[in-house]
Amino acid sequence: MRREIIAGNWKMNNLTSEVETFFKDFGALSADTKRQVIVAPAYPYLKTAGELARECGIELAAQDLYPQPEGAFTGMIGSKMLKDLGVSAVIIGHSERRHILHEPLDLIREKVRFAQEEGFHLIFCVGETLEERQSGEMLNVLTTQITSAFDNNLTAAPEMVTIAYEPVWAIGTGVVATPEQAEEMHSFIRKLITEKYGYGDSRILYGGSVKPNNINGLISLEDIDGALVGGASLKAESFRALVNA
Ligand code: PGA
Repeated sequence: MRREIIAGNWKMNNLTSEVETFFKDFGALSADTKRQVIVAPAYPYLKTAGELARECGIELAAQDLYPQPEGAFTGMIGSKMLKDLGVSAVIIGHSERRHILHEPLDLIREKVRFAQEEGFHLIFCVGETLEERQSGEMLNVLTTQITSAFDNNLTAAPEMVTIAYEPVWAIGTGVVATPEQAEEMHSFIRKLITEKYGYGDSRILYGGSVKPNNINGLISLEDIDGALVGGASLKAESFRALVNA
């Protein structure tokens, strides 16, 4: 059984008072919550958020990781700092880093390797742009993103390796993939990671304009094991609704 995950990626949002309000309003997860619940605050808020998250039963993720423990890497955050702050999961390869920062495949691969070596739960993001979808390239794009990061590079247990399929055209746009579109991509990813790596038990999350009113149509599908949520994770009320959906 793959345990479902609801993960919130706060990106460059939520200041101290908003972080505090979020956890106060969210409250503690009830003992019968079966889903794994994770939030990824921006780096400066990991300490505040981490303490409050722990009291609520929520796990702490970082939005990225530089693949070194510590050292002379100006502006980077490595594994020692993240562990010091209680971070247990890291998001790698988010489309905003791939596209805005032009993060190269070999750096993403190195982050994937290092995150596993350091014992973090890896949340690895993939997804095609609208152009790539319209030109029919989307399955090739996913294959390249996955194989360039995973070939001869998977060392962690499958439950510590999660993939988030996030079509770039659905992120922050309000345009959610239809359940059929999402399931087609998820089942393709499931087949690929099962046949190529034996990682069929890894979880595959959908991301891109997930809201309380559309999550059920997605999460009920065979190969969708949860959601990675941006906008709707910023406020406790909608994040709660997603966790309880
Ligand atoms: P969104 O972001 O929910 O705001 O579309 C999703 C993501 O980028 O993880």
